[in-house]
Amino acid sequence: MHVSLNCGLCGVSHPVDRLQNLCSSCGRPLLAGYDLEAVRAQFRPASVQSSGVRSMWRFAPVMPVDNARDAVTLGEGLTPLLRAERRGPFAAFEHLYVKDESFNPTGSFKARGMSAAITRAVALGVTEVALPSAGNAAGAAASYAAKAGLKCHVFMPADTPPANILESVIAGADVALVNGLISDCGKLIQRGCREFGWFDLSTLKEPFRVEGKKTMGYELAMDLAHDQGISLDEPLPLPDVIFYPTGGGTGLIGMWKAFDEMERLGWIGSQRPRMVVVQAEHCAPIVRAFQTGAEFAQPFPNAATIASGLRVPAAVGDFLMLRALKESGGTAITVTDAELMEGVNELARYQGIYACPEGGAVWKAAEHLLSTGWLKPHEKIVLFNTGTGHKYNHLVKLPELPLLHENWPATK
Ligand SMILES: Cc1ncc(COP(=O)(O)O)c(C=O)c1O
Repeated sequence: MHVSLNCGLCGVSHPVDRLQNLCSSCGRPLLAGYDLEAVRAQFRPASVQSSGVRSMWRFAPVMPVDNARDAVTLGEGLTPLLRAERRGPFAAFEHLYVKDESFNPTGSFKARGMSAAITRAVALGVTEVALPSAGNAAGAAASYAAKAGLKCHVFMPADTPPANILESVIAGADVALVNGLISDCGKLIQRGCREFGWFDLSTLKEPFRVEGKKTMGYELAMDLAHDQGISLDEPLPLPDVIFYPTGGGTGLIGMWKAFDEMERLGWIGSQRPRMVVVQAEHCAPIVRAFQTGAEFAQPFPNAATIASGLRVPAAVGDFLMLRALKESGGTAITVTDAELMEGVNELARYQGIYACPEGGAVWKAAEHLLSTGWLKPHEKIVLFNTGTGHKYNHLVKLPELPLLHENWPATK
């Protein structure tokens, strides 16, 4: 259970046992802290492995819960780290991996964040939650709210993938569409929270979604140890480079936080992966800020991309992402919509992974950074496929297919 809740920007400390969103002093995200010294002796990779807990809640000592049995869980986490086959356009990479988050409940990594946020909301007596969503967060929030018996209100851009709207509706959420972007939905949600007392689950405005997503960092190190035959009693390995498709940035910020905690727990050394933010050509506020060396990002005008999870023109955790990029020696890169859909096709055809458009984006970004020499072929590289392609069937064009008759293969 966390013992502190401090602002990620100004550092002001907030009460740990009260329902709250952003820092009351500067309006930026709050981050949970743990008494890592107290858990250090018992909480080891090997004990996590042997705990028998079949979800991300096996990391409970560094999660916002007293007892893992109180978690609102649908079995999130424990996703596979797949070694990419050296085939077709993938052949040049010697150690390329895909952490395939499509295995999560509701088909995306958003499940991790929502499991943590809803668990904490229930503990603090919340009965109605609300959020703006580009798609996957809505489906996950609706499902975890259903599991916990909470009412969930979701506002989504009208052009959100139909599968995301449907999964939210079927889980009993109150869904409304907005002619605008996720930022416009966010403004209306704020109004709803003020008027009706809903609790705002917006990404990084709610302090614990990032705690769920950080488990991707813990898992990744344990997965790599397994892949390389390294004992869990040894310091755990991390990859050289991590590619992350970035919207609000919760996953990237969460993993960066996880690495810091893991070092203080004695699980890893001081080495860190170079973090790579991947955004879409026409919605790239973090890439733009990184290129100018800015501490904060400016809202991106006329944001547009078919990768709905990347359609986030402004992020309240911008400075945390930019800090992680700088500290890690990482970079930020854009891909076009055509490229990311080509990435989806190539992951399916050469790796058997039907990825979401955001997963396609990170693959094409890696291919590009190899061609510029920023990546070396021998480096250990992890791509995050953040969700399943099955929610985006509407983006895939089927070719004309033959219709067979009973006498096939006779010619007539
Ligand atoms: C499939 C997918 N990938 C990536 C993202 C971006 O995630 P984050 O907010 O952690 O940057 C989203 C967010 O909606 C998403 O749905």
